[in-house]
Amino acid sequence: MALPGGFNLIELGSVGSTNDEAKSLAATGAPDGTVVRAASQTAGRGRNGRTWVSEKGNLYFSLLVRPACTAQIAVQLSFVTSIALAQTLSGNLPVTTAVTCKWPNDVLVDDKKIAGMLLESAPLGKGPLDWLVIGIGVNIASYPCDVMYPATSVHAAGAPNIAADELLAAFCRRFAKWRTIWIDDGFVPVRDEWLARAAGLGGEIGVHLASGSITGIFDGLDEQGTLIVLREDGERTKITAGDVFFPTASNQ
Ligand code: BTN
Repeated sequence: MALPGGFNLIELGSVGSTNDEAKSLAATGAPDGTVVRAASQTAGRGRNGRTWVSEKGNLYFSLLVRPACTAQIAVQLSFVTSIALAQTLSGNLPVTTAVTCKWPNDVLVDDKKIAGMLLESAPLGKGPLDWLVIGIGVNIASYPCDVMYPATSVHAAGAPNIAADELLAAFCRRFAKWRTIWIDDGFVPVRDEWLARAAGLGGEIGVHLASGSITGIFDGLDEQGTLIVLREDGERTKITAGDVFFPTASNQ
């Protein structure tokens, strides 16, 4: 299969983790836009040390970018990625499905997780980040049942004929478009687009943190993409890392 200009596809069979493959390639000078895709993974990783079950039939890939900015700014690419992924899925699923973004970087379809991403970067120094690997898993044919957050797949969501190849190529086109907007116009249009699709904005959310859980109203994102939670006492708490849940949802 072919990807749009600016992307260079490496297709593999079974690997440990496409993120590890992409990180090795980054260390040996692979260019921005390298995409490592695998049919399956034996050691797929999710966020916070979780396992990402990676059987054949779903989409597993890692995109290597060389962002020419600091790590703090490069994190905004996770929102660029989420938008690109959400728009790609939205364009391929029945019009009645709701495709939303869940902070920090999940995509939901009708409130169920269909895709997630894991960002890993070069060791942090003072200057621009040497590389960032954006690892993405999209449930196409199957989805896990015994997970913390309810899941679904492209097929289960009503698009049984969509091929992973098509989705990957469409994702790359949208990613390139939104990355250009981000470079030219900054984070504001990206944040606006992400918030327009944000799951639970203005409603009650909970966040599992390393130190425990908090609840409050999902009040938006700051200029870095940090989550803002309005607490019962009127304080606004800013969160850079955690797992969001929706306390009133019936499916959790
Ligand atoms: C999450 O939601 O917890 C993130 C899941 C990220 C999974 C993808 S699959 C391709 C890439 N390789 C990995 O080992 N993980 C990411």
